[in-house]
Amino acid sequence: MENLNLLFLTEALLCFMCPCLSKQTPRVSFHKGNPGRHLTHFSSHEVSNTTTLLLSENGDVLYVGARDAVLALDVSHKDVIMLRDKLDWSPSDKDLEQCSMKGKKKADCPNFIRVLQFLNTSHLYACGTFAFSPRCTYINSDTFTMNVKPDEGRGRCPYDPFQRNTAIIVDGELYTGTVADYRGNRPVISRHLSEGRRVDMKLDDTLGWLEDTTFISSSFIPDEEKIFFFFSEVGQEYNFINKFIVSRVSQICLSDVGGQRTLQRRWTTFVKAQLLCQADNELPYNVIQDIDTLPPAEGASADDTLFYGIFTSQWSVNSGRSGVCSFRLRDIKSVFSGNYKVLNRDTLQWSTQVQEKVANPGECGLHNASDNALRFVKENFLADDSVQPAGRNLTMVSTEQYSHLTVQRVKGANNRDYTVLFLLTESGYLHKVVLLQNGAHIIEEVQVFEQPQPVKSLELSKPKGVIYVGTSEGLVRVPVANCSFYWTCAQCVLAQDPFCGWDTVKRACVEASNIQTNLGQDVERGNVEAVCNSVTYTHRARFGPNILPAGQLVSVSLNEVVRLQCPAASQLSEQLWECPNNRLSPDLYLHLGDGSLSFVATPATLGHYLCLSTENGYQQTMAIYHVKQKSSLIAQTPTTYTLRQTHPIPSTQAVARAGLGLQTSVGPKKIEARQRGTEPTLSSMDAHVITTQLKGNFTPWTQEPVQSAQGSCYLKELVVVSVLLVLSLSLSITLLFYFVKQRCRRQTAPQTATPIRDSARRTPMELEAHKMNQFLNKHNGQSLHTEQANGFGCNGVFRGSNGHLPNTPI
Ligand SMILES: *[C@@H]1O[C@H](CO)[C@@H](O)[C@H](O)[C@H]1NC(C)=O
Ligand SMILES: *[C@@H]1O[C@H](CO)[C@@H](O)[C@H](O)[C@H]1NC(C)=O
Ligand SMILES: *[C@@H]1O[C@H](CO)[C@@H](O)[C@H](O)[C@H]1NC(C)=O
Ligand SMILES: *[C@@H]1O[C@H](CO)[C@@H](O)[C@H](O)[C@H]1NC(C)=O
Ligand SMILES: *[C@@H]1O[C@H](CO)[C@@H](O)[C@H](O)[C@H]1NC(C)=O
Repeated sequence: MENLNLLFLTEALLCFMCPCLSKQTPRVSFHKGNPGRHLTHFSSHEVSNTTTLLLSENGDVLYVGARDAVLALDVSHKDVIMLRDKLDWSPSDKDLEQCSMKGKKKADCPNFIRVLQFLNTSHLYACGTFAFSPRCTYINSDTFTMNVKPDEGRGRCPYDPFQRNTAIIVDGELYTGTVADYRGNRPVISRHLSEGRRVDMKLDDTLGWLEDTTFISSSFIPDEEKIFFFFSEVGQEYNFINKFIVSRVSQICLSDVGGQRTLQRRWTTFVKAQLLCQADNELPYNVIQDIDTLPPAEGASADDTLFYGIFTSQWSVNSGRSGVCSFRLRDIKSVFSGNYKVLNRDTLQWSTQVQEKVANPGECGLHNASDNALRFVKENFLADDSVQPAGRNLTMVSTEQYSHLTVQRVKGANNRDYTVLFLLTESGYLHKVVLLQNGAHIIEEVQVFEQPQPVKSLELSKPKGVIYVGTSEGLVRVPVANCSFYWTCAQCVLAQDPFCGWDTVKRACVEASNIQTNLGQDVERGNVEAVCNSVTYTHRARFGPNILPAGQLVSVSLNEVVRLQCPAASQLSEQLWECPNNRLSPDLYLHLGDGSLSFVATPATLGHYLCLSTENGYQQTMAIYHVKQKSSLIAQTPTTYTLRQTHPIPSTQAVARAGLGLQTSVGPKKIEARQRGTEPTLSSMDAHVITTQLKGNFTPWTQEPVQSAQGSCYLKELVVVSVLLVLSLSLSITLLFYFVKQRCRRQTAPQTATPIRDSARRTPMELEAHKMNQFLNKHNGQSLHTEQANGFGCNGVFRGSNGHLPNTPI
């Protein structure tokens, strides 16, 4: 124990030194309402707190356990979810009155359905909290009616709707893990609905087989004829740490009918072991939140069954983060067949003693065993070893707090299997993650709800390729992929999505499962050159394999501040600006945090601009602008023109789509903004070009600490930046006039504004404003001596001009 104590201390110390996690960014983000991902909602004022979801085998009917109701939803239609049947099941007024009299809140007294399972081909079985007096019932799935007299639900369903439980029906018998008393202190794993020679079973609770347990999930493994339960509880073996929570796997055999004299009607096959989700020298992610079973690949042994779990940490160092770990059935079995810890009844200390094995704990078929053997298994139920995660490492660590997951094996175009995880964040995003050789890749995230939901459930429908998310507000259906969102071969390949591949005939990104022919796909590396270049395209490499965006004509007045937007190809891409045959001098151009480019329109800065996006070693052109001087004083809206019309050119819409739902930068500030749901999406090309007219009136510009950077939305920021621009321009011009006057008087060059040194302490907004100010000052200085700028601008026509201050529109 001492050693362990030391170990934990060391670990704690080590962890303070461990490097910060780098944030994993989803490649693409679909915010609510984004047309790139069509969600189907089902909500009705009668339906709330959808706690349990159960899908029919063919995926056409979804049964939903909600508050005071069980619903059957017709989910066979593509665009709508329809209510097929509804069964009201609410406590009577008298029940509610009693519930209130027991001191329970009225809002917690309804019947929250917590167990919903198929019993046989004609019936469902459901249990609910029923005003803190749990009940269960059979539901005829054809007539959708329940039997008149409900069963007692004690031991099958919790009393308190906020207590977690798990239930599974195998061969008409109900196996449950729940607290079995009103106060929620008695966790039990039990079997119900047994008939004939089979008997209902319980845990022997005299020995503390479970301690303060939170049940998470259960899984039936047919090859083993065993049911595995997953839960967290207080780790009594770590009694030196106050309430150290451990995550566990436990098992029982289907064949268990208890002992003859010892352990009558009690499990003889119950054993448990600790699940470790921990990286070397780091504090463990010790609290299991959810777990899902991934059956072995076709032809593989059942021992290769994997359990993928989400774990969070009890310690504040890791708060708000989660770890994902997978556990192999083989490893669990090997831990269960090893040694067991023994409790010293005098000192109440657990220890490992090598002792003579009278029986094998966890072994099925002990019902005829001797009392001696049964006493042995009764006391040896805590495995000495812990179950290590597969690969001895975490599958994934995230700064997101994940609450639910579901896992699927997906066949890629090369016929290889990929593991795809769907992870629901507390803030309402569904992350789709593919596990690659060098780690997890978040393909995309889809926002499924805006307000945090106290109740959540997740159900994957493999035949239909959709995920159902149940929340306090209702139900949302999310397709697992929308390949047509990726409109180029490059985008399709860069996504590294095993669901999608490039169809060279249709020239479209299509669902991999729908097609037999060879699809362009590279899930492992996302190598565009390798996949898309084999598809014959004769384009110049820099313009991408197939599509050149339409050019945008931007008409400006001289001295106007121009801001060109660059739609990001993805959140993992980096944006870069170029003018043909020129370099963008930092003296003239300001690269803004969102990837856009800002400059003052002068003869030297008119011309063509290309916005390039680089990702995974592949570069593509995202936008082309032609900045031109306005021919009249009347402002024109930017018009579209085409550039070198030798290739099929998509509408501006195609380029605009690039910006849809994609953030234009990947900086941490943006991510925060997105989490607060304030990030707008670029919805049209018009929004890509923002120009600000130079105003003549002068207002003294003070460097006020602009606090809005963290909380403001993008638009506000824009306005602030524009105003600052105008202000600083005015200031510069005033300085300029002052300077000209001074020069006339004293023939000496003035100093531009002194750079502010202590930039480290500024907010990003201040920094940007400061940068802008410096830039504008420089620019103004430059305007007086344009010779310096020759070759730095974007328009060859004006190069070598004598460079007097341009101020008259042509
Ligand atoms: C897929 O994305 C395309 C392009 O954004 C959109 O038009 C379409 O409606 C989307 N389909 C679904 C099912 O979300
Ligand atoms: C299913 O179980 C119910 C309840 O025990 C029973 O009434 C019904 O006959 C069973 N149906 C079938 C098809 O076995
Ligand atoms: C256990 O004993 C019963 C009779 O008590 C017998 O019918 C059964 O076959 C025995 N089972 C095993 C596995 O030995
Ligand atoms: C464990 O995984 C993390 C990322 O999750 C990785 O950085 C680390 O190198 C891995 N450690 C080992 C020993 O593979
Ligand atoms: C049911 O949903 C409401 C929000 O609609 C929430 O406030 C409440 O806590 C939920 N109740 C339970 C028992 O989950």
